[in-house]
Amino acid sequence: MNQKKISGDVYSPSQQVIDKAHVKDWNKLNNSAFENYLDFWEKEANELHWFKKWDKVLDDSNKPFFKWFTNAEVNIVYNCLDRHCETPRRNKLALLWEGEKGEFRGFSYFALKRETCRTANVLKSLGVKKGDRVTIYMGRIPELLISMLACARIGAIHSVVYGGFTVEALHERLEDSQSKVLIVADGSYQRGKIVPLKSIADEALQRAATVESVLVVKRTGEPINMEPGRDMWLHELLALPIANSTCSIEIMDAEDPLFMLYTSGTTGKPKAILHTHGGYMVGTYSTLKYVFDIHDEDRYWCAADPGWITGHSYIVYGPLLNGATSFMYEGAPTFPYPNRWWQMIEKYGINILYTAPTAIRGLMRFGEAWPNRHDLSSLRLLGSVGEPINPEAWKWYHRVIGKDKCPIMDTWWQTETGMFMITPMPCVDLKPGSATRPFPGIEMDILNEQGESVKPNEVGNLVIKTPWPSIMRTIYNDPDRFVQQYWSKYPGMYLTGDSARRDEDGYIWVIGRVDDVIKVSGYRLGTAEVESALVSHPAVAEAAAIGLPHDIKGNAIYTYVILKSSVVKHDKLIEELRQHVSHELGPIAKPEHIEFVESLPKTRSGKIMRRVLRARALGEELKDLSTLEE
Ligand code: WTA
Repeated sequence: MNQKKISGDVYSPSQQVIDKAHVKDWNKLNNSAFENYLDFWEKEANELHWFKKWDKVLDDSNKPFFKWFTNAEVNIVYNCLDRHCETPRRNKLALLWEGEKGEFRGFSYFALKRETCRTANVLKSLGVKKGDRVTIYMGRIPELLISMLACARIGAIHSVVYGGFTVEALHERLEDSQSKVLIVADGSYQRGKIVPLKSIADEALQRAATVESVLVVKRTGEPINMEPGRDMWLHELLALPIANSTCSIEIMDAEDPLFMLYTSGTTGKPKAILHTHGGYMVGTYSTLKYVFDIHDEDRYWCAADPGWITGHSYIVYGPLLNGATSFMYEGAPTFPYPNRWWQMIEKYGINILYTAPTAIRGLMRFGEAWPNRHDLSSLRLLGSVGEPINPEAWKWYHRVIGKDKCPIMDTWWQTETGMFMITPMPCVDLKPGSATRPFPGIEMDILNEQGESVKPNEVGNLVIKTPWPSIMRTIYNDPDRFVQQYWSKYPGMYLTGDSARRDEDGYIWVIGRVDDVIKVSGYRLGTAEVESALVSHPAVAEAAAIGLPHDIKGNAIYTYVILKSSVVKHDKLIEELRQHVSHELGPIAKPEHIEFVESLPKTRSGKIMRRVLRARALGEELKDLSTLEE
């Protein structure tokens, strides 16, 4: 056995799982990484291809602006595609894709490289160069992945906007990133309906001025507006001689930006988290290899959306770096029936399934008969991400989907961390609801307000003490906010924004956000974004949003609205406001509950005291109101 006896409700992996695993002894790997984490990461980096190797593994002379693999030359896409194309993996399937309507597309490594090069050549013909920003806005289709890889191949920085976001969310991201080009699909399928992505983009583009060219991917074929001189069909450009199938690869410095991804923070607008070619590559490669135990014959399915960090790291880059075969599905898990996922696991022989607690709870609701109709015996490992998984959902997932033989990798991490930070590996003993311990080489702690480590089972702020290669480098265009938000509460330590406790075995139990981030169905939203969407409605004077517990979604958005004095309340106003949020920000942000109020609890300096609203809604006693305005 790989570790000392641990207490509580423990699930140990079978010998069969351990025998197959890359890491059979977690303690041994952890101890060696702990002794010298730079050696550990250097060894991992040496498994990948570099045009030129580094002078130093880590340069921490300008903390917290860490640099990894300094002066090395690399391109992540070379490692995702070209490297495999020089081996028999060239003909291996890189991507299997099923559309919501049941269509199938497959890409070998060779084909994916070819399509990436062709799209890269189209981008070049539009004048896209190293360092330019390109925004990508589509559903879960292969072109999304190809567009990302095409940007990275020529050194452009991609900014993917989740296809479930709408007008204002897209506008803000286009403007902040100063994107020259937008790649958008005409629409996407969601539960049999069409989401009109191009017309949403048209509205966003009316508000943003920097975009010169729009490339449109034909997915639905529904009629759309094409703006002459600005909009072009991608398939038409791909038919031209410029779109040939070889495209030289841009040689990047390890620290050159790979992508920016917007995420919600403590206050204000979403911020763009910046990741790089070198360190991000090493972090995602290594964590996926060890945690989901990728072997050449595996078929791996991460059911997240490429528009979020989980998709960037573990649908696109991590699996390709590992030469894996990934599966991607376009639509909703319950469409047309609640067995859709289980049917596809059976059909494609999926070995590894990685999803979110909200999806598990949502599918659990329909009962065991749906999964039991299918042969799920190909599954070897399961995964969970995005929010704490409640033990009931964990056990259902383990028993009904995993047939008691598939360990669940509950992975805790963030857009900012780029890679798994607290996670088991297949050989580790599991406790339902705990993401177990930090990944080897990562030191974490739980601190009280005074900065002291809390005792076992006491709750405190989760912090990270050692740098890791895929750490965010900065907030795009806002380095001060990067320092302020993550590095100022406890000097020298990265503040996660989560609260957690650690049990007597060193297992970490993440509780949730302590800031103004709300996790709705695993999606990360900020109270400020929801509030500003509400306030942009002509009837609203002021608004406050909070997250409250919800059985399936984890959290649901509750809002409190002060109407303008001239507005007459009417029955349809609540629905109108909900629709307005959905139109501006996205259906995921639609408030569960809207209440009209006359005033909001505020501090003397005018900040909304959301904890007062939360306590009131939950019927809890209000503690410490000393800062509340009279
Ligand atoms: C939460 C998602 C508990 C946490 C990859 C974190 C989790 C935030 C887990 C980051 C988990 C993510 N257990 N909580 N396994 N995974 N979280 O940036 O609150 O969308 O801070 O990245 O999700 O959300 P983000």
